[in-house]
Amino acid sequence: MRTLSAVILVLMVYTITRDVQAGEIVQKGAQKCKACHSEIHAIWLKTKHATAFDTLGPKDRKNAKCVSCHTTGSDPKFPGVQCEACHGAGGCIASPIFRNSKFKQMTLEQQRKMKIETGLITGEHNCRRCHNKTSPHYKEFDFKTRYNEIKHRTSTK
Ligand code: HEC
Ligand code: HEC
Ligand code: HEC
Ligand code: HEC
Repeated sequence: MRTLSAVILVLMVYTITRDVQAGEIVQKGAQKCKACHSEIHAIWLKTKHATAFDTLGPKDRKNAKCVSCHTTGSDPKFPGVQCEACHGAGGCIASPIFRNSKFKQMTLEQQRKMKIETGLITGEHNCRRCHNKTSPHYKEFDFKTRYNEIKHRTSTK
């Protein structure tokens, strides 16, 4: 387990350094996240978020309005509501918390606050970017109920 964590950390630092040197934080796509979060990826695949672009007919796939909520970052190259729609472009790979030397010394509560501030984890207000009345198929959105339908927490921490 130790060795695996070390390998993962080196990989992350490598990816981060490369992207930051390139001066841009870009969307990676769910396939990239799958490499390290395969369990979560498998849960996500079973939700309609994964297939939200397929739901659109051929004409609507070119309609910027529909595309804005049925893709990630309004980009059909990232079809459906992928990881980065909720965890920010680049996800944890790009997250500044992994470059913050003080992060490890923080309490869990402080770490959580920082994850929220940096957009690595978000909640109801982010869902409502898409789950709102400007959607032609809006259904009542009760956060707690709907979150339970898509949740993929594997830990209880
Ligand atoms: C090289 C491996 C690796 C890749 C690729 C990767 N992650 Fe991570 N991720 C980790 C590790 C390690 C952690 C820290 C340990 C943990 O909390 O699981 C983490 C933590 C996270 C967290 C914080 C979880 C929490 O609340 O503690 C989120 C959210 C996340 N990753 C999302 C993503 C997304 C989205 C992608 C794809 C854009 C991605 N990750 C790609 C390894 C990776
Ligand atoms: C980028 C836009 C977007 C965001 C952000 C978003 N959703 Fe969705 N969500 C959709 C779309 C589009 C669908 C419908 C997909 C379809 O039917 O093809 C959907 C469907 C769902 C469904 C039905 C899933 C199923 O498998 O039946 C639930 C539940 C849901 N969303 C909850 C949430 C929650 C909770 C959040 C926030 C944590 C959230 N959504 C964030 C766009 C979004
Ligand atoms: C503001 C964001 C938003 C926009 C714009 C949007 N959608 Fe959606 N769409 C959603 C969400 C969110 C859902 C899931 C509703 C739910 O389950 O609460 C959804 C669901 C759907 C569904 C599944 C309907 C069902 O009853 O399950 C279809 C089909 C659909 N949208 C087509 C479209 C088309 C076509 C357009 C463009 C004309 C469009 N959407 C524009 C957010 C949006
Ligand atoms: C519709 C929004 C949404 C999508 C799409 C989504 N997540 Fe999440 N994810 C969340 C929320 C909300 C949480 C809970 C955050 C919190 O409050 O701790 C979460 C939690 C996590 C965690 C922490 C889990 C733990 O066990 O502590 C990781 C890692 C993660 N997501 C990775 C991913 C990956 C990888 C994908 C794509 C395969 C993905 N997420 C897709 C909203 C989303």
